[in-house]
Amino acid sequence: MRVAMIGAGYVGLVSGACFADFGHDVVCVDTDRSKIDRLQSGIMPIFEPGLPELVAANARAGRLTFTDDLAAGVRGAEAVFIAVGTPSRRGDGHADLSFVHAAARAIAAELTGYAVIVTKSTVPVGTGDEVERTIREARPDAEFAVVSNPEFLREGAAIGDFKRPDRIVIGTEDARARDVMTELYRPLFLNASPLLFTARRTAELIKYAANAFLATKITFINEIADLCEVVGADVQDVARGIGLDNRIGSKFLHAGPGYGGSCFPKDTLALIKTAQDFGAPVRIVETVAAVNDQRKRAMAKKVIAAADGSVRGKTVAVLGLTFKPNTDDMRDSPAIAVVQALQDAGAIIRAFDPEGVEQAKLVLTDVDYARDPYDCVTGADVAVLVTEWDAFRALDMDRVRTLMTTPVLVDLRNVYRPEEMARRGIDYRSIGRA
Ligand SMILES: NC(=O)c1ccc[n+]([C@@H]2O[C@H](COP(=O)([O-])OP(=O)(O)OC[C@H]3O[C@@H](n4cnc5c(N)ncnc54)[C@H](O)[C@@H]3O)[C@@H](O)[C@H]2O)c1
Repeated sequence: MRVAMIGAGYVGLVSGACFADFGHDVVCVDTDRSKIDRLQSGIMPIFEPGLPELVAANARAGRLTFTDDLAAGVRGAEAVFIAVGTPSRRGDGHADLSFVHAAARAIAAELTGYAVIVTKSTVPVGTGDEVERTIREARPDAEFAVVSNPEFLREGAAIGDFKRPDRIVIGTEDARARDVMTELYRPLFLNASPLLFTARRTAELIKYAANAFLATKITFINEIADLCEVVGADVQDVARGIGLDNRIGSKFLHAGPGYGGSCFPKDTLALIKTAQDFGAPVRIVETVAAVNDQRKRAMAKKVIAAADGSVRGKTVAVLGLTFKPNTDDMRDSPAIAVVQALQDAGAIIRAFDPEGVEQAKLVLTDVDYARDPYDCVTGADVAVLVTEWDAFRALDMDRVRTLMTTPVLVDLRNVYRPEEMARRGIDYRSIGRA
């Protein structure tokens, strides 16, 4: 099948490369000329494990091309995906749909034969209706259907998630579009991937409900962790104790510095706004978002407490900046709030991240970047582990202790064991453990 992917960002590029790998003929279109130039030269705009190889193999096979010429990409495509960004709109927290509408208008102008326009971007309920109206007004003659197909891939495991998804949600009531979508995803059927067909509005809401639920689960265990600290319980054991119950499940029960990333913060906020607009507020999610916001800066207080109540003039070594390992994505990373709060309190920040430094430089100022974890902790008064990259999971703690001015480690991901750290002579603080 011929597929056009509008937006060659995280989702568009991964989805486009995976569809090409299934044998479809994919053109990725992006308005960012420099991104297209880099992709044409085989340079990835993001860090995602396995992506360079997947893109190279399919580009070589002639199934995956890149262009900034939307007309050329859309011409003759049977499926046109909209995978552009939907960030939080400044000021009110609604999803900013300007990129989606711009893409819809551009696509409308180029439609030739029957095409299915597929919204892969995360968009509020009713956006599919608006996209359809926009295209219909611009092109009363065109033959098309607008389908919602939200994406659930996780950064850092994006290719595996796309190729072996738990489910593929397809929102359409159009029989012809349903056939096209079934054919598009048919290569996954060998793995018995469940296609879930729903109404378009339902599909749009499923994506937000899923992210809001996961954000709630994280926030729940984070609050339980705070309670553990004051009552002398262990949150790891609590998480295990409840997670073994199949009704609860063990995933997303890792206490930490609060959720971040390119999706949960903006999607919870957008759901809250939509629900308020429709007069059916989602109070649990409102609370989750508020608790999570407050938590990120509270993590800085934890570091300050570990540094005997003040970090003024002290050097804090920050291990990990991205919102999670195996990505270079800094969007809404908890590290941003932690670093800024520590800087506000007078700390000198020295940081190391295996892949995120280039992106971090765009959002953080006055940070001294180290070569590796040991370089980072050298001369530091306190170290804080913010992102659980593999590179931080087995540090030589005897070396860390001797390199630091004072061996204080605040582990916001519970990577290490308190008894072991005590044995190594490290003043160790973690989340939700004695
Ligand atoms: N990143 C994730 O893990 C993830 C997961 C699931 C869903 N989503 C959703 O997918 C959507 C895209 O997210 P992303 O992380 O890939 O964003 P991104 O910012 O990485 O990529 C968006 C791309 O779209 C391009 N673009 C914008 N307007 C365009 C236009 N009119 N024509 C062509 N290209 C255009 C931009 O230049 C950019 O390269 C969002 O709605 C997001 O919520 C993201």
